[in-house]
Amino acid sequence: MIFKSLPLIFFVLCFHSFTTADLNSDEEALLTFAASVSHIKKLNWSHQKSICSSWIGVRCTTDNTRVRTLKLPGFGLNGSIRADTLGKLDALKVLSLRFNYLIDLPPDVSTIPSLRSLFLQHNNLPRIMPSLSSRLNILDLSYNSLKGAIPQVFENLTQIRSLFLQNNSLSGPIPDLQLPNLKHLNLSYNNLSGAIPLSLQGFPKESFLGNPFLCGTPLPQCPETPGHKRSIWKTEGVTIAIASGVSIILILLVILILVCFFKRKHRQQSSREPGQSGTIEKPEGNSSAEEPERRGLVFFDKSSHNFDLEDLLRASAESIGKGSHGTTYKAFLEDGTTVVVKRLKDVVIRKREFEQHMEMIGRIRLHPNIVPLLAYYYSNDDKLLIYDYVPSGSFSSLLHGSKVAGCTHTSWESRVKVALGAARGIAHIHIESGGNLVHGNIKSSNILLTPELDACVCDYGLAPLFGSATALTPSRIVVGYSSPEVIETRQYTYKSDVYSFGVLLLEMLTGRAPLRSPGHDDLADLPRWVQSVVREEWTTEVFDAELMLNRKVEEEMVRMLQIAMSCIATTPDQRPTMEEVMRMIEGIRRSDSGQTVLGEEQA
Ligand SMILES: *[C@@H]1O[C@H](CO)[C@@H](O)[C@H](O)[C@H]1NC(C)=O
Ligand SMILES: *[C@@H]1O[C@H](CO)[C@@H](O)[C@H](O)[C@H]1NC(C)=O
Ligand SMILES: *[C@@H]1O[C@H](CO)[C@@H](O)[C@H](O)[C@H]1NC(C)=O
Ligand SMILES: *[C@@H]1O[C@H](CO)[C@@H](O)[C@H](O)[C@H]1NC(C)=O
Ligand SMILES: *[C@@H]1O[C@H](CO)[C@@H](O)[C@H](O)[C@H]1NC(C)=O
Ligand SMILES: *[C@@H]1O[C@H](CO)[C@@H](O)[C@H](O)[C@H]1NC(C)=O
Repeated sequence: MIFKSLPLIFFVLCFHSFTTADLNSDEEALLTFAASVSHIKKLNWSHQKSICSSWIGVRCTTDNTRVRTLKLPGFGLNGSIRADTLGKLDALKVLSLRFNYLIDLPPDVSTIPSLRSLFLQHNNLPRIMPSLSSRLNILDLSYNSLKGAIPQVFENLTQIRSLFLQNNSLSGPIPDLQLPNLKHLNLSYNNLSGAIPLSLQGFPKESFLGNPFLCGTPLPQCPETPGHKRSIWKTEGVTIAIASGVSIILILLVILILVCFFKRKHRQQSSREPGQSGTIEKPEGNSSAEEPERRGLVFFDKSSHNFDLEDLLRASAESIGKGSHGTTYKAFLEDGTTVVVKRLKDVVIRKREFEQHMEMIGRIRLHPNIVPLLAYYYSNDDKLLIYDYVPSGSFSSLLHGSKVAGCTHTSWESRVKVALGAARGIAHIHIESGGNLVHGNIKSSNILLTPELDACVCDYGLAPLFGSATALTPSRIVVGYSSPEVIETRQYTYKSDVYSFGVLLLEMLTGRAPLRSPGHDDLADLPRWVQSVVREEWTTEVFDAELMLNRKVEEEMVRMLQIAMSCIATTPDQRPTMEEVMRMIEGIRRSDSGQTVLGEEQA
């Protein structure tokens, strides 16, 4: 498949511009800077032109009172930046001077209190700045000439989320940094040595590549060398065997504690968040400075993301799907995160209703089997939904994609795991919304998968945005998955979700997509086909040939088929609830282990 990369800015937006007196000091600072550092590409800055609209690389706050962003990538800036130039831009939030020839950044710049993102990758900086603003979210110093140890100053970066130091010449041990918000770390291709500290062992090995003297989780275990701390055991007469046994147990314990710790932390965060999303933000703290700039995007969890509409629109993006609800993009943000942006079309409801509906979706979004909605944006011209990006494909591609890629992935166990996860996610939507939200668009391509095959339900709860029954055009109906009453009345209910889920189970059991090509009516209605075959008592004929290779699971498949059949009952009242469906699937897995034991005893 070929994707086109294009900037999201094409969502044409207008930024009005008029200069005010507050800008004068920023203007002076920038002009002094331009005069004091040599550069190759021309800076077309001049007093005659409006700083906020015509100065290359400069962007202002939305009220055009201060310079907010300065980005001069690849301008051939050479040498040092003088103190008292950029350091005076004390409302600056984003500074990007990547791909230049800088050898120094003065302390008054690196400590600007408002600074959140500092991009200095691909320069010739010889050392890490001795002082840094403790409120930085992103620091990129990769591809420089940094030497020496990672300094203590990093412990002060309590707000840091992304830290990039790869491809430098840093040496010495990695300090035990306690950085609670750190999500992206890259220390690859340096000359760091020693054991990776506990606090950083949760990062992948790609964060530490190319440091030949570095060891410990997630890299290979550190060697036992004489003079190593643990050799104390040997001097006390304990054999090497016991010592290494003890160390393995210790390592296992540490891993176990870490896993528990991370899980708990994760859970604590999750349980805190719903409260936050519903309440109005307190005026204290940093919100006053940030609020006007964030205007537009409404975040559910304000602490965890630091991009605004402008960042989003300028991110490079690729279109990953076009559906009846609009177009979906994958957007790559400058801090290294990827999000999914859904641009809705034909939304009929008003702003207030839209906001209320989003609030409702926001309340149910925190569940491991649901793709979280991070933020939304509403204007007359555009309605955007911003979601977390789930990297590993969908249930649809798993079932119908290239068979070469994953024979093992389409095993019965994997399918049941995905189905159970999806059932939990959908049941959560039904239960948590207290009767106000249905999924309304259940299909295998809307069940996304993590690399561990945990199902993440997406595209939920959007049907009401597109208006009442009459406004619903036939193209909005999810062909193949829609229950008879949806096709007739165009109303989505809990029970129509259950029907669609039943079709999904049939799809997983038979390996057939509910809709083939439009011309082939015989296969188009999967439920009817299955019902007819089952009536004729050829039950096992319906199953995916790939699954039938394993006779042991046949019993489970028949039970799953029974669940699916109850879901696709024609009368909504006869269908179980999603919670009951979830329990029944859980039941299959539980009795499975019991049966195997029984079978072995009889044999
Ligand atoms: C400076 O360059 C930018 C980008 O090329 C352009 O948008 C802007 O109008 C220019 N400003 C002036 C004063 O020429
Ligand atoms: C940067 O400036 C130095 C000294 O003025 C000069 O030798 C060097 O060639 C310049 N580098 C580039 C890339 O222009
Ligand atoms: C860290 O911050 C504290 C207070 O904010 C300050 O006193 C200390 O000097 C800082 N440490 C470094 C290494 O910058
Ligand atoms: C940077 O890292 C890459 C690995 O991606 C490595 O192959 C390369 O040699 C490094 N480049 C420099 C300039 O150090
Ligand atoms: C890397 O560090 C090791 C010791 O940790 C040292 O022996 C070696 O010389 C260093 N290599 C470079 C290229 O600095
Ligand atoms: C870190 O940088 C290296 C070299 O550029 C790259 O190969 C690696 O994938 C990066 N690691 C992460 C976690 O992004």
